[in-house]
Amino acid sequence: MERSLGRVLVIVPTYNERDNLPMIARRLRAAVPEAHLLVADDNSPDGTGEIADELAAQDDHIHVLHRPGKQGLGAAYIAGFRWGLAEGFDVLVEMDADGSHRPEELPKLLDAVANGADLAIGSRWVPGGKVVNWPLSRELLSRGANTYVRFMLGLPVRDSTAGFRAYRAATLEKIGLDDVQSQGYCFQVDLTLRTVRSGLRVTEVPITFVDRTIGSSKMSRDIVMEALWRVTAWGVRGLPARLRGKRR
Ligand code: GDD
Ligand code: MN
Repeated sequence: MERSLGRVLVIVPTYNERDNLPMIARRLRAAVPEAHLLVADDNSPDGTGEIADELAAQDDHIHVLHRPGKQGLGAAYIAGFRWGLAEGFDVLVEMDADGSHRPEELPKLLDAVANGADLAIGSRWVPGGKVVNWPLSRELLSRGANTYVRFMLGLPVRDSTAGFRAYRAATLEKIGLDDVQSQGYCFQVDLTLRTVRSGLRVTEVPITFVDRTIGSSKMSRDIVMEALWRVTAWGVRGLPARLRGKRR
């Protein structure tokens, strides 16, 4: 039986996305008209924040969180989640601004939550999932990262670095956001791990990830290094519990 979803907030973190934001806002508002949009902008030098303000002034379903400077994807999402929880939203969605996550596929994620998922992940690496126009180097990085995560953490998830996902508010409240330290893209793995370890239900929904055509990726060597050392540290710390679990 389908459970009712309640109010949906889509959080879109932005850093220098002025030429993408109006497009993604328009597509989201058309695809899921009842959902609200929160733009979490890190004071983008290209003026994305002002464009977000203009969109918000014209649409009562669009909101803007202005942050003082570039503090990473993880920090932007945590601020967005806090805002959404305080406003009483029931489902909180993560989505990139650049069109890689297609708003037209959001109903599939929301259906998974309505059908009982505590976290629904839009996955590239399950049957039916695809990537379009990604350079081979990025595909190898993503596949390699996910293989390493599964090996180190034993997560039953094929795409734990995915950034298109829907959380039930209760999931975020249960896993706790106060002690999250991940700043970059390993934030995605961090919250997946917390959700699984809290005994909550994760459902992967196949999506088609389309590489951006406008602007540039913020992926960097520092982001990769942070992910590598954090995943390694979580894996080592969780090892005794995993070994105990296997023996039983
Ligand atoms: N506010 C804020 N602050 N936004 C940021 C920051 C930041 O420091 N860094 C990136 N963003 C925003 C971008 O503007 C974009 O909307 C979104 O976060 C994703 O950034 P991209 O730079 O487009 O990421 P990507 O395409 O390289 O990476 C994608 O794949 C990763 C690996 O699978 C994303 O979906 C990541 O979430 C995912 O982990
Ligand atoms: Mn992108």
